[in-house]
Amino acid sequence: MLRECLLYLTSPCPLFPRHVRSFYLKGLIGITSRYHRQRQAWRPHLQASEQAIKSFIEQNSIAPRGTVIILGSGPLLDVPLGFLNKHFKRVYLIDIVHLISTRIKCLFYPHVKMRSLNLVGAELDFITQLAGPQKCSLTNHPALKDNSTWIQELTALPLPDLPPADCIISLNLLSQLAIFPYLRLEEILQNLRCPQNTRLQRLTALCNVINGRHLKLLRSYPQALLISEITQQHFKEKASYIQRTDETILSAELLAQLSPWGPNWDWHLAPYGEIDRQVEIISKVGAFTLSSPPIRRP
Ligand SMILES: C[S@@+](CC[C@H](N)C(=O)[O-])C[C@H]1O[C@@H](n2cnc3c(N)ncnc32)[C@H](O)[C@@H]1O
Repeated sequence: MLRECLLYLTSPCPLFPRHVRSFYLKGLIGITSRYHRQRQAWRPHLQASEQAIKSFIEQNSIAPRGTVIILGSGPLLDVPLGFLNKHFKRVYLIDIVHLISTRIKCLFYPHVKMRSLNLVGAELDFITQLAGPQKCSLTNHPALKDNSTWIQELTALPLPDLPPADCIISLNLLSQLAIFPYLRLEEILQNLRCPQNTRLQRLTALCNVINGRHLKLLRSYPQALLISEITQQHFKEKASYIQRTDETILSAELLAQLSPWGPNWDWHLAPYGEIDRQVEIISKVGAFTLSSPPIRRP
C-alpha cells in the first residue's frame, strides 16, 4: 500500500485534468502491483510479447539506427528496452502516464524518450463536449443524433499527434483504450435518461470506432505490429462445475484486417485468488501485422 501511495504521489502527469490523471495513474499502479503478486504466472506472456517484438524487428530488417514508437509502454514489463536501445537511434515510449520508476529506468538508455499522450484524447474531448448542452431537449441533443452521423463524426476526429518513425508497436494496450471514454459516455447518456437501446448502440459504436482508429493509426507507419488480447476467458468455480464465459476483445471485423505474427499464447492475467477465490481470468493474446497496405500520414 505504501509503495502504491508513493508511486501515486511521485509520478507526474500534469497535462491532464485531475479525474483523467487519477483514473489512468491508479490503473497503471494497479497493473504494477498485480505484476508483483503474479510475477510467475505473467512471465510466459511477458516473454512472448518481448520475443514477438524482437523477431518482428529482426526478420523485417527494420531500419537499424532508425526510430521506433512503442504505444502503451506502461511499466515496461513487456518492453525489450536494452534491445530497442541498441537497435534504434530513437525509441519513443508513449503512454498517458510514466511512473517515476519507469523514468528512473530510462535514464540508463540514452536513445529512449518518453512522451505523455492520451491516445483517445480527441474522442474524450468530443464526448466531454456532449455533456455541455444539458438544456437541449432529448430529441435534438447532439449526443443523440442518428447513429451514422455519430459514427462519422467520431471517425473523422484527428488521429493522435505522434512523431514520424520507421516502425510502430502497440503493446497490450488495445483492450484498455475504450474503457475511460466508454465510462464517460455512459455517465452522460445516463444523465440524459437516454433510452437503453440507443445507449447501447452509441457505446458499441464508440468502442468500434476507437479500435478501428487505432488500427488506422498503426497503418499510417511503414511497419506496424499489434500485440493484443484477442479474448478474455473468465472461469468461475460453481458447486460442481466450472462456468466459463468468453469476452471478445478483437472482433471478427478487426481480426479480418490482421495477419498473425506467430502463434497465440495464454496470459494468466488473474489466477484464482487474485480478484476472487473462485474466479480465474486467462487472456488469449496474439501478435499481428496489418494486412492492408500502409496509408499515408497527413
Ligand atoms: C495493460 S497495460 C500494458 C503496459 C505495458 N505494455 C507493460 O505490460 O509493461 C496498458 C497500458 O496502456 C496505457 N494506456 C491505456 N489507455 C491509454 C491511453 N488512452 N493513452 C495512452 N496510454 C494508455 C496504460 O497507462 C498502460 O500503461
